[in-house]
Amino acid sequence: MRSLRHLPRAAAIFAAFHAAALPALRAQPTLKDTYRGMFHLGAAIRPDQVNGRTPQAAELILREFDSISPENVLKVGPIHPRPGNDDSSYDFAPADQFVDFGVKHKLFTIGHTLCWHSQLPAWLDQQQKSAEPTITKAELTQFLRDHIMKVVGRYKGRVHGWDVVNEALNDGAGGYRQTIFHRVIGQDYLVMAFKWAHEADPAAELYYNDYNLDANDAKRTSCLELIKYLRANGAPITGVGMQGHYNLNTPSAAKVDETIKLFADLGLKVMITELDVRAVGAAPVTGAVGAGGGGGRGRGAPPSLTAEQQQALAQRYADLFAVFVKHRAAITRVTFWGLRDTDSWRRASSPLIFDDHYQPKPAYHAVLNAAKSAGPAKAK
Ligand code: XIL
Repeated sequence: MRSLRHLPRAAAIFAAFHAAALPALRAQPTLKDTYRGMFHLGAAIRPDQVNGRTPQAAELILREFDSISPENVLKVGPIHPRPGNDDSSYDFAPADQFVDFGVKHKLFTIGHTLCWHSQLPAWLDQQQKSAEPTITKAELTQFLRDHIMKVVGRYKGRVHGWDVVNEALNDGAGGYRQTIFHRVIGQDYLVMAFKWAHEADPAAELYYNDYNLDANDAKRTSCLELIKYLRANGAPITGVGMQGHYNLNTPSAAKVDETIKLFADLGLKVMITELDVRAVGAAPVTGAVGAGGGGGRGRGAPPSLTAEQQQALAQRYADLFAVFVKHRAAITRVTFWGLRDTDSWRRASSPLIFDDHYQPKPAYHAVLNAAKSAGPAKAK
């Protein structure tokens, strides 16, 4: 900077301005900036990414995303492993770290999930597996109420949207899944869950979340009925989450488009909540891809894709995001289910947009480019 002393004042200011501005000008566009004004872009994240153990991951999350979902720490089993409702029944620490990270960085923070048949505490899972559960209707209703009031209450004002009920519908012919909640309490557990969540945090958005709503017409019809049932009974639902665990060719972009429109027409916010696309590996025969049917699991490094496979994955993401952009008036968030392929629950199918080394895959650039189909940005 010594040479600046010899420059006239205006030139010095000009040079200093350029020195400061250059890195910013050179910086690449990011997902969240590119989609600002359309919808939030999110990622599901894990404890090591918010507790300082993988700073590179935290940096990438903060660079690219403005929303976070907890991949596991807020599920009933992990956060509430022991029966009862005093603090000793709960393991709050990992969820606290997740929520603190969201608050610190001003991210749109999601709670996932308050009522789900999977990843339950062991004692309740045993009840669920039993042909004749011994837990009474009053006991299970009390447990669910306590759980929702405690967890939503604890994070009131800091978690902005909750997946209140997850995967309550069957694959195949649709209809209600015979979860422990449905069997012991009956259908109105759905209504009660939403009412309790609203009571605990009236400002929070409340969602119903499920998979294959766009791949299975019967399940989709059941979901539309479920939403009407909730509303008819005064349950304060704000949106529906389509998980978006997709294959390379199914469901078609046209089906995704049609499904978003059906939900949007009900006046609901629509979210893609768990997006990933199986780039390689066989699709399950039934097309079912939710919990237990994820396919492509397995430890070890994700397979590296050929240039053609990368291109096919990029094209699929481009086609999907073109649909999301088209529906930007209804869509409020698109969340990827994980950051890197390595972290993905479907890692054996290399489904995400960042590779092992936190580097963008061609699919990342396809997602960035797809925003252009919106034309000039306009605020929501
Ligand atoms: C998955 C997680 O990604 C895994 O780490 C965990 O072992 C099982 O659950 N539908 C959902 C998510 O709503 O919570 C699931 O997440 C994937 C399917």
